[in-house]
Amino acid sequence: MEVVIVPDAAAGGDIIAEAMAKLLHRKPDALLGVATGSTPLPVYQSLAARVRAGAVDVSRARVCQLDEYVGLPTGHPESYRSVVLREVVEPLGLSPEAFMGPDGAAEDVQAACDAYDAALAAAGGVDLQLLGIGTDGHIGFNEPCSSLASRTRIKTLTEQTRVDNARFFGGDIEAVPHHVITQGIGTILEARHLVLLATGEGKAEAVAATVEGPVAAVVPASALQLHPHATVIVDEAAASKLK
Ligand code: F6R
Repeated sequence: MEVVIVPDAAAGGDIIAEAMAKLLHRKPDALLGVATGSTPLPVYQSLAARVRAGAVDVSRARVCQLDEYVGLPTGHPESYRSVVLREVVEPLGLSPEAFMGPDGAAEDVQAACDAYDAALAAAGGVDLQLLGIGTDGHIGFNEPCSSLASRTRIKTLTEQTRVDNARFFGGDIEAVPHHVITQGIGTILEARHLVLLATGEGKAEAVAATVEGPVAAVVPASALQLHPHATVIVDEAAASKLK
């Protein structure tokens, strides 16, 4: 695992956007796994700026979701499908057909999860998976004690994650769904390159446990230690509890 400490979130965004641009130069139809939440926004802004400047060709690029809320009405602005369309697909000028995600409104949720794992495999697998990290060490929505071999499935959010995400729902924790579909840790580990971005002091403990702690289901992100090509990019605040 490679750990890169950057001065701030914008610098982290630039490094990752540059890695995505290089990947797309080498493999124009690369499949980029995108995370939602606040942390990855500088990555998408930096990549979109490169596209506008003509520095990277995304005409054949594909993107796929990491996770999705269960039970939000189709088109809800905070469904992760809506967020990825708004923050990634539209600014990059991708066609909606270049975008894949699990169906959080499916009646048979497990069938939707299985179909998503199959669709990722049929697409040739994820080339670069961007990850954020929860304050409790989750990746995707694999909360603590998720199996390190898990596949895409339904999970229940912890109270802590619902509190953390209430800001996207007008501060109303009751509006945050209890359930999500998430790529499993085993699914995530199949991506060819994992890039985790963490910024801010609130992530410092989770980052230290991920990088320096034992590989353990209680810290799902520690599974990155098992991956042959994992990069952890942290600003100084998120790095503050590393030894
Ligand atoms: C989102 C996701 C989550 C977030 C994590 C951090 O798709 O999978 O693991 O990356 O909850 O969220 P932020 O970046 O908002 O602190």
